[in-house]
Amino acid sequence: MSYEMILVEQKAAVTLITLNRPQALNALNSQVLDELIGAFARFEADKSQLCAVVTGSGDKAFAAGADIKEMSDKPGAAFYSEDFFSGWTDKLVKAVRKPWIAAVNGFALGGGCEVAMMADFIIASETAKFGQPEIKLGVAPGMGGSQRLTRAVGKSKAMDMCLTGRMMDAAEAERSGLVSRVVPADKLLEEALKTAETIAAMPPLAAMMNKELVDMAFETTLDTGLIMERRMFQVLTATEDKVEGMKAFVEKRPGVWKGR
Ligand code: HXC
Repeated sequence: MSYEMILVEQKAAVTLITLNRPQALNALNSQVLDELIGAFARFEADKSQLCAVVTGSGDKAFAAGADIKEMSDKPGAAFYSEDFFSGWTDKLVKAVRKPWIAAVNGFALGGGCEVAMMADFIIASETAKFGQPEIKLGVAPGMGGSQRLTRAVGKSKAMDMCLTGRMMDAAEAERSGLVSRVVPADKLLEEALKTAETIAAMPPLAAMMNKELVDMAFETTLDTGLIMERRMFQVLTATEDKVEGMKAFVEKRPGVWKGR
């Protein structure tokens, strides 16, 4: 598949996906969505790929939101009949069981912030700015912002962000738990790829189950989550990689993983 609005590169076991509309601050239109869905489906299907990084081209933006120009002339009924942008959560979150990281450089606004929050975690550059400014356009977040931001930073800050449309800088985002770490802008990609390589070097089934378990903390009760955690732990003890991992520890050498 060839892409026009994103760049996709494989770096050993890591897939790097770059949103590539810098002239529009990487605004997310329907074509970007289709291409991203295609790239993620390939990443998920390719056994050689174990972790992905999504970033934005240029130093100004990760993505400045859904494409306002595409949305401005669209009749209201079409948003509903097309179930506008419903593909994101289904195809980028539910269908992707392998880990992926958002490397946020510059603006991550509206849909841009929402896509970053769909990632398993966010690494931000010092210049990153997050926001849900949809209210200023007469709308509200439509791709998970009101829900994922609230789960990430709590009600008070999420209300502040959604009701005023203000931006949060990288330091505030780190303080609030929205991002896992902040790095200098010129080190962002290097740091994100290094982190992805670390994850890709882990036993693959354990990586997928760790991801599933942390996600489950947002989806279920503590009791059910704890039972699921125990069961997944028990399932993982039956893998060849568990035998290898524990043997490698005792023998003081790195493990060699089979993904089974
Ligand atoms: C389309 C966009 C865009 C967007 C920027 N551009 N954001 N095009 N959709 N979301 C375009 C501008 O029109 C301009 O193109 C070029 O990118 C550079 O942007 P400027 O505004 O000139 O840059 P600057 O002055 O530095 O301001 C940067 C900015 C501002 C603060 C990020 O661009 C901005 O406020 N953008 C909109 C942010 C936003 O409201 N996002 C939420 C969208 S709604 P030209 O051709 O003029 O040079 C949303 C809903 C999701 O995401 C839910 C859907 C279901």
